[in-house]
Amino acid sequence: MDSSSDIDLHKLPQHVAVIMDGNGRWAQKHGKARVYGHQHGVESVRQITEAAAEMGIPYLSLYAFSTENWNRPAYEVTALMTLLVQTIKNEIETLQKNQIRLQAVGNLDRLPRATHRALERAIEQTQHNDRMTLILALNYSGKWDITQAMQALQASGADVTQDALEQHLSTAQWPDPELMIRTSGELRISNFFLWQLAYAELYFTDVMWPDFRKDHFKQAIVDFQKRQRRFGKTGEQVS
Ligand code: FPP
Repeated sequence: MDSSSDIDLHKLPQHVAVIMDGNGRWAQKHGKARVYGHQHGVESVRQITEAAAEMGIPYLSLYAFSTENWNRPAYEVTALMTLLVQTIKNEIETLQKNQIRLQAVGNLDRLPRATHRALERAIEQTQHNDRMTLILALNYSGKWDITQAMQALQASGADVTQDALEQHLSTAQWPDPELMIRTSGELRISNFFLWQLAYAELYFTDVMWPDFRKDHFKQAIVDFQKRQRRFGKTGEQVS
């Protein structure tokens, strides 16, 4: 099914955030090790990035590694980090060709050196691209972000206000996500953008991340566009 024609290009979410979930279960279903699922998840990353850029969505965030993911078996963590380095290196050319700027949020200093270095290089090489910004959340958690923002604010000596705190979040330079998609049927935010998702529309699908394709993404956008966003007001006030 092609949902492209149902999308109103004038009402696109300016920032879409995605929790890419279900890689492990997808692999197990196929009788393979969990890492096989992550490897296949890379194709979904490619497809969804392309779909968002083609539509004209300015910001796309992907939750690639949470601070809690360090608790996974060491071999899985190592495999994920290796996959990240490989993917970043392999995709640089495509990012350049498509004018996509790569950015990252999270406690990046704590990433393995090779991952950090590949990431920094890619961020630098793509910094002038202006078609879309692809943000990877790596070693990220919402609680970490709010805590580091609070610490920075305290160190600055400024008054604690909502605006001031917001300016110190690692996402301060981008608009908050308007749509958050989570795959694999889990109905949680899992310590992702806790502050930033305050008014996001949440979209959950049973599709596992390695099966998530352009048309699934478009379906989420169509669903988003059918919703009435009230921001605390009444339906009459916003219609
Ligand atoms: C969640 O599935 C997925 C992850 C923790 C990692 C996502 C990483 C990729 C798709 C690899 C490459 C990414 C980029 C951005 C280059 P899960 O393992 O929690 O699945 P489960 O819930 O079925 O166990």
